[in-house]
Amino acid sequence: MKTILEVKDVYLYFGGVTALNGVNLKLKEGEILALVGPNGSGKTSLLNCICGFYKPQKGRIIYKDRDITKLPPHARAEIGIGRVFQTPYIFHGSVIDNIMVGYVTKQKNPFKLMRMKSAVEAREMAERLIEFVELEMYRKSEALGLPMGIRKRIELARVLMWNPDVLLLDEPTSGLSIDEKRDMARYILELNEVHEKSILLVEHDLSLVHDIAERVIVMDAGVEIAEGSPQEVVKNPEVIKAYLGE
Ligand SMILES: Nc1ncnc2c1ncn2[C@@H]1O[C@H](COP(=O)(O)OP(=O)(O)O)[C@@H](O)[C@H]1O
Ligand SMILES: [Mg+2]
Repeated sequence: MKTILEVKDVYLYFGGVTALNGVNLKLKEGEILALVGPNGSGKTSLLNCICGFYKPQKGRIIYKDRDITKLPPHARAEIGIGRVFQTPYIFHGSVIDNIMVGYVTKQKNPFKLMRMKSAVEAREMAERLIEFVELEMYRKSEALGLPMGIRKRIELARVLMWNPDVLLLDEPTSGLSIDEKRDMARYILELNEVHEKSILLVEHDLSLVHDIAERVIVMDAGVEIAEGSPQEVVKNPEVIKAYLGE
């Protein structure tokens, strides 16, 4: 399988704190790769380096054979890297407006940015995404104050407005009930299998990782300590130590 995204020897420091200490990673086209590890091991920092919110002091990010290390976040979104945050950003307005916000942008030509031709096309896309995340009944509801399960779906639909090829998901099931987790897992699988998204998934729930990820990378203290199938990594002594030490 072809590599769609590569992280090469990335170092990231915050003052005296080393968040990433030489990370290497390859996301293959069409795979679901899970990134797991204790709190503070650098998972979110890594996603931030990939989407351009953080600038690593050293190392490179390669996307579709192109060095994007110097590209600003909006340019990375434009070429197909979508980022979903752990805490969804919800503003005052309807659910559909919260999803459509993807298309209200400071860029001169939002449709080019979103790979769409017109406002009509954008509206149609938003309607399809509402169905995809099963929020039809909330379409016109005020989004502020909706429960976390709904917020997470809004956030997912919003990033899909940009029609990304790569999805960076930061703990998409945190704070969800068991049923809501199952729904989210179903969306992730469908995005991967039907819509051919390549997915880098940060996830705490190892049983969910086991269920949907083909490959897992385990991080601890800013480096990868293990890589393999979900079945393999949970048996790795270094992984067990890192988790028990949390
Ligand atoms: N914006 C920031 N400023 C200072 N330190 C940060 C910042 N973001 C992350 N860190 C530090 O980097 C390390 C990795 O954090 P993070 O990437 O959030 O880990 P994880 O997502 O695996 O829990 C932690 O020590 C954290 O405190
Ligand atoms: Mg995190």
